[in-house]
Amino acid sequence: MNILGVETSCDETSAAVVRDGTEILSNVVSSQIDLHRPYGGVVPELASRHHLELIQSVIQQALDAAGTKTEQIDGVAATYGPGLASSLLIGLNAAKGVAFTLNKPFLGINHLEAHLYSPLLSEHNFDALPMVSLIVSGGHTILAHVTNIGRHEILGQTVDDAAGEAFDKVAKLLGLRYPGGPEVDRLAKQGNRAAIAFPRSMLDDPGFNFSFSGLKTSVLYYLKKNPNAVVADVCASFQEAVVDVLVGKTLRAACHTGVRAISASGGVSINSRFRERLAAECPRRNLRLFLASAQLCTDNAAMIASLAYHKLQRGARSDWSLDVAPSIGLRAA
Ligand code: KG4
Ligand code: ZN
Repeated sequence: MNILGVETSCDETSAAVVRDGTEILSNVVSSQIDLHRPYGGVVPELASRHHLELIQSVIQQALDAAGTKTEQIDGVAATYGPGLASSLLIGLNAAKGVAFTLNKPFLGINHLEAHLYSPLLSEHNFDALPMVSLIVSGGHTILAHVTNIGRHEILGQTVDDAAGEAFDKVAKLLGLRYPGGPEVDRLAKQGNRAAIAFPRSMLDDPGFNFSFSGLKTSVLYYLKKNPNAVVADVCASFQEAVVDVLVGKTLRAACHTGVRAISASGGVSINSRFRERLAAECPRRNLRLFLASAQLCTDNAAMIASLAYHKLQRGARSDWSLDVAPSIGLRAA
């Protein structure tokens, strides 16, 4: 079964063809980072105009790269939320148009739910469930207990800023270019992570929620007091504080739920120190670790097509009237 997936929730225009939920035949991702960089963040109007210009050719490229003709597509899926309303509209409607024209089943997918499984898709391995799955991106920080495909409960999430937002804001304070995460990661390699004792907010709280806005404020105050601080030391110390909390809570969630596998996806999960720490901790605790490849960490249509396959198989279908849901969260299911 070949599923065409479409993703336009933020600043990536993406289309993919995935066979039987695991075999990625194509995954075309057109990033708009360069377009938004001068503004220091995603400008919604620019993003949607760009999606509109690109969507048809990105879908065609995905079909061509997969070597699939339209008649070999068995279903079409698109992200319907969460994300920027004007961006979501472009991909959702383009996908509906394709499904309608081909007379194939159509399914709207929750972007966050798709992120839960992208590390499994990355390793072509869906037999790791149950697992604890961490989503860490520029807009979300969510820890979920996934018991089966389509079945999950939310253990915790951020009460203020997302982890990626903290990386981006701290990078801005340091005068680094957008997006800040990769820059902080790069500079931290030359810094001393024990140089500054930044707070590990909520690390010792009994629950699984996160908070990163206090950490960002601590960095701001530190820089005001120490205008000549070594940038690499600030990056390394800040990053260590974020990673301590993300890794600490994820491992505790694994212990709490009794799962034998953990996974992580979203832009921040590309972070080299985060990966290094998890790679060191998991074997010690006899936990299998699933990390999405860089392309499946960030926003992509392959994860949308993959989850859609599993849901379409079980008979799920969306109505043509399905609208975008910009602020839908990850609901328990
Ligand atoms: O998943 P993503 O591409 O987009 C969404 O937010 O949906 O994540 C982007 C976020 C940005 O905040 C970016 O700074 C962060 O991921 N990021 C990183 C790294 N690479 C990207 N954060 C820390 N270390 C990295 N290496
Ligand atoms: Zn995402």
